[in-house]
Amino acid sequence: MDTPVQLTIDDQAVSAAPGTTIHKAARAAGIVIPTICYHDYCTANALCRICVVEVEGSRTLVPACVAFVAEGMRVRTQTERVRRARKNILEMLASTVDLSEAPEILALMKEYGADAQRFPGALKRDPPLVDDNPMYIRDYAKCILCWRCVQVCASDAQYTYAINFEKRGFHTQISTFFQRPMPLTTCVFCGQCVGVCPTGALKSRRAWLLEQGMLE
Ligand code: SF4
Ligand code: FES
Repeated sequence: MDTPVQLTIDDQAVSAAPGTTIHKAARAAGIVIPTICYHDYCTANALCRICVVEVEGSRTLVPACVAFVAEGMRVRTQTERVRRARKNILEMLASTVDLSEAPEILALMKEYGADAQRFPGALKRDPPLVDDNPMYIRDYAKCILCWRCVQVCASDAQYTYAINFEKRGFHTQISTFFQRPMPLTTCVFCGQCVGVCPTGALKSRRAWLLEQGMLE
């Protein structure tokens, strides 16, 4: 067995196997580092950056979900700089995406004192709701582009590759190839994308119809 790495996180001595991420080492030590795009069953991609921490000697903040522990590392998870970065990220998300059905993100906004109205002139992402199959709806106005759905549809779980990113910059969104209706793609309606979506952007069609009062 490889010799464990010794480090400190928030002045607490922590021992972790080589190749462990800072996030997992912290979690094992009972220290919570917030995450949004990260999911235990998906490959971490460091897309949202809410998990940033300060590492002594590093000029920039470090995303804890992908950065590995190292011998003698000194990590701080709640400094002023870290908290300000997380607050900014949350405020930018809230300015552009409908987070009304994202309870974990709303809880973080409360914890970090994030102001959803901080950027009142920001463009809201507002693509039309897609209702093209009997199993689930896609409401990308609520999508934070965490990529979890793409990953479980691809090589993290299902290997069907029905969805991916399309377009660029602000207009980037999750889509099928050439925006084909879902029944005309490789989708097998396994539901895993719905299961990992943290914001209600993907929802079972039945749940959505119930919400709309179209089912009893
Ligand atoms: S639809 Fe949901 S799971 Fe997929 S990228 Fe958007 S927020 Fe993430
Ligand atoms: S949770 Fe680490 S970058 Fe999103």
